[in-house]
Amino acid sequence: MSDLDPEVRVLAPLYSSALELLRERLDDIVEDILRNLKESIPVFAQVPAQYDSTLREVALAACNYLLRLLEEESVAEGDIKWGDFRGLELEEILHSFQVGSEVAWRWIKRTWSEAGYPLEETLKAAELLWRFYFSVTDSVAREFIRQRQESADRFNDLLNRIRTVREGEELLRLITMGACDVLGYRRAVLFLVEREMMTPVSAADREDQAWGKSILDEEKKYPLSPMADNLVTRAFYEPSIKVSKAEDGERVAFLTPSREAHFALVPVKPEGSPSGLLYVETEPLGKFIRKREVELLSAYAEAAGMALENLRLYRELETKRKIMDNLMSRVNTAHEEERARIARELHDSVAQSLLKIIYAAGFALDFLKENPPLAVDEINEVQQRAKDCLGELRAIMSNLRPTSLDILGLKETVLRYAEQFEEEYAISVSVDLEGLESLPPSAELPVFRILQEELTNVRKHSNAGSVHIRSQLSQGDFVLAVEDDGVGFDPHMLEAEQESGKQLGLMAIRERVELLGGDMRIDSTPGMGTRITVRIPMVGGGEG
Ligand SMILES: Nc1ncnc2c1ncn2[C@@H]1O[C@H](COP(=O)(O)OP(=O)(O)OP(=O)(O)O)[C@@H](O)[C@H]1O
Ligand SMILES: [Mg+2]
Repeated sequence: MSDLDPEVRVLAPLYSSALELLRERLDDIVEDILRNLKESIPVFAQVPAQYDSTLREVALAACNYLLRLLEEESVAEGDIKWGDFRGLELEEILHSFQVGSEVAWRWIKRTWSEAGYPLEETLKAAELLWRFYFSVTDSVAREFIRQRQESADRFNDLLNRIRTVREGEELLRLITMGACDVLGYRRAVLFLVEREMMTPVSAADREDQAWGKSILDEEKKYPLSPMADNLVTRAFYEPSIKVSKAEDGERVAFLTPSREAHFALVPVKPEGSPSGLLYVETEPLGKFIRKREVELLSAYAEAAGMALENLRLYRELETKRKIMDNLMSRVNTAHEEERARIARELHDSVAQSLLKIIYAAGFALDFLKENPPLAVDEINEVQQRAKDCLGELRAIMSNLRPTSLDILGLKETVLRYAEQFEEEYAISVSVDLEGLESLPPSAELPVFRILQEELTNVRKHSNAGSVHIRSQLSQGDFVLAVEDDGVGFDPHMLEAEQESGKQLGLMAIRERVELLGGDMRIDSTPGMGTRITVRIPMVGGGEG
């Protein structure tokens, strides 16, 4: 700030003693400013008492600045640190300097008149105060905008990193670390919610690295029932950001916020429906979580949600690819095995029979002239062997494609298969078949194979007493459901197994159905039986 104009220099002889008086009253002035701030600006009225010391420091710094101005008529700019404005709005900051200046003016007026200054001198002091006010608010506003810009830059930079990170662990870590380092929270925990269970997947504390680790190491989960009435549940199911101040000993899920800290619960919802919850907590006596912060948190949660969703899709794709690889290699070996088996069967049966036919035909030729009756025997032999050979060939072929499908049709084939299954494995089978005849021929074999795999699973895994097979046309789709009353299983456990390449029957069913443009659904609970439903769309609406 520049030197003051010469005409406003205040050089009256009583000046220094008046300033001394003002300096002695500094504590009272500061308290007066504080009281006035709280009375006239709502945000300061809500500040907890412990926060007063910070306000006091700022007020004191401003008063000292003013005193030096009165004393030296010039103060270098940048002398004063105005602190961190992140929690306040510019309007509130300017307003508070206005209130402070008004209070200071009252005290100056009083002191000057007590010191016996004439009115003219008081007006000069007023002009100094006026300059003080403009100089301070100007530098504060600049500093405010600089800080805002800086935090906006840091925030954007964080969002970019979140959007581009490819590695899952890194993303989870970034979400909580970013909430601490960039958004300025003391603690952050990210929960993922699956089947109404909240599991912490990343946690950070700005000052205490061990804290985050301990939260994860404890491996606690928190049940989220839509029926329960607590802040966590409401944040997730409503879903909306919930902000609160921690009561003594309050629990948020299984976290204990520090006393007097403020915290927010932010639903993380990729594609609309929440799949996670971000918990953030301020310093113990820290700032409020105000409207602006809530808006930032909401933008933050959106970016985090999108990144998590991308990551999930990416992982899903990876898993699918692994499963497909397994399936393909199994299909390949199955093909090889099948070829070897057919070659063996052809060799063992058809080739042997043909050899015998060739010999018998040779004998018949030899006997034809000298011993016709023997030749007739051999020809009969040829005929018999040829019949056997044909039978063997048919058997091999029907294994390749159940002959009955072509001869009897799918419905009859299923009925016979079910009957045979019931006899062989003593599991009672009931059937209720409709709509089979509407299936296009290309879908018949896949549907039969699906049924075979499902019944094989019932036999191998279910320990069921009965199984019900039902098919029908519904809303233009062909629907086949196989339901057993056996031990059931947890379908969520399937994926890991499929990835390991051990269990592929159900996966193969899904692949077959998807090839036909349909989908598969598994309904099973341990102890409650299993129902597998496949739905295949009928092109051109098969319902008629
Ligand atoms: N009807 C059922 N009742 C109980 N558990 C079942 C049933 N069907 C499937 N399962 C469970 O699901 C798992 C996966 O079945 P899937 O058909 O994919 O593999 P699998 O039968 O074990 O092996 P394969 O690859 O030879 O079919 C089974 O291992 C079993 O635990
Ligand atoms: Mg199976």
